[in-house]
Amino acid sequence: MKLQPPKGTRDFYPDQMARRRYLHDAWRRVSVRHGFDEVDGPIFESLDLYKVKSGDGIVSELFHFQDRGDRGLAIRPEFTPTLARMVAAKANALPKPVKWFCTPNLCRAEKPQRGRLREFDQWNIDMLGEAGPIADAEVIAVACDLLRELGVGPGLVQVKLSHREVVRQVLTSLGVPDDKINDAFTLLDGKAKTPPEVFAEKAKALGLGDEQVKRFDAMCSQAYAVGEIDKLCQAAGIDDKLEDLRAIDKALSDFGLSDWCVYDLGIVRGLAYYTGTVFELHVTTGKERALGGGGRYDKLIELFGGPAMPAVGFGMGDVVLTNLLEDEGLLPEHIGPRPDAYVISVTDTGDAQLPGVVSTLRFAGLHARMSYKQTRKVGKLLKDAEACRARYAVILDDQAASGAASVKDLASGRQESVALDKLADRLRG
Ligand code: HAM
Repeated sequence: MKLQPPKGTRDFYPDQMARRRYLHDAWRRVSVRHGFDEVDGPIFESLDLYKVKSGDGIVSELFHFQDRGDRGLAIRPEFTPTLARMVAAKANALPKPVKWFCTPNLCRAEKPQRGRLREFDQWNIDMLGEAGPIADAEVIAVACDLLRELGVGPGLVQVKLSHREVVRQVLTSLGVPDDKINDAFTLLDGKAKTPPEVFAEKAKALGLGDEQVKRFDAMCSQAYAVGEIDKLCQAAGIDDKLEDLRAIDKALSDFGLSDWCVYDLGIVRGLAYYTGTVFELHVTTGKERALGGGGRYDKLIELFGGPAMPAVGFGMGDVVLTNLLEDEGLLPEHIGPRPDAYVISVTDTGDAQLPGVVSTLRFAGLHARMSYKQTRKVGKLLKDAEACRARYAVILDDQAASGAASVKDLASGRQESVALDKLADRLRG
């Protein structure tokens, strides 16, 4: 019987696990320096939690089951409902603003394809308790800083920003009736994957004439730079709510994010809980699925039984990010821990001392590996030391009987004799 991993999942052998750790370390480092605290929740939740507001987009992608007490449960497809539940439960006790990050693995029963799997890791950055545009800009800044940290610049990834209320008003001004606005959002959200003639047909079904369909199409095909907000106003043909966007525009430029961001009214996001600003991170080649996405969800905490509390955040998955770093050659050639010492023995006395020497080094806090090979060929053993990128080879040779070893610096090739009781200090120095 040949057992395969389930469709859309990954096994992480040491090389892949080292890459995964590399991303998680960067996510954590950047989150912490922007002042976010780490949290986590259960990997499964009650099914109802996702039914409340996540929208059919998520619910139809759930892996769900009944427990022995016949309760409906689902493996987490995203973290935002868990976060909203956690904040709602302790809202009054939490210091404000709440600035949290987490890096959960999530499962969605979607069709596996490039950039989309059934199990993936997702970095979440969320800020609650701040209604102003500073919070929107601050969370976007964290995403941009992460990309910069990994060698990705604004030429390669852009933050496409929009505002749900602005889009709603544009749609209303075009003649989309209130009860069809959500259908129009769905159409906009899927536009990139919809052939133009199908888009036009569906837009007409919303009650739009040919001229309005053209304007609808134009509205979501044009991007505007930060600072070009007046042009956006003109194109959109509305003014209300644009005050929100104007304030965000200023915050983005104050945070130094103008190069990273563009306005694109075609972005509305599939999840139902977003209320104001929405954004997605896209690779500029256009070849990849969204790298990340988020926005304001000012009503969710209240909906989950907490007080009224504004909130903004985003999620960024590891799959598109890894594809991007691989394609651009931005992953370091060697990832993973480097041993301080690789200990080898080439004499009988050395063989007897090998476990003790390795153990002493490890208990002294050094990363030490050893050879398990029964050979006296020092050249062969040194190759193994180099292969694992050890800084030093410790060779237990003829000196072992007199309590010393040869220490070889594998970068410079220099070799010296060191007393075994001074070995840890020497390797640490
Ligand atoms: P989302 O747009 O569903 O938003 O997911 C955000 C990111 O997670 C995507 O852009 C993508 O990088 C990654 N992602 C989503 N689905 C998959 C998949 N099947 N395979 C691989 N990667 C995937 C949310 O999840 C919101 N809860 C984010 C958020 C946090 N909003 C506010 N705070």
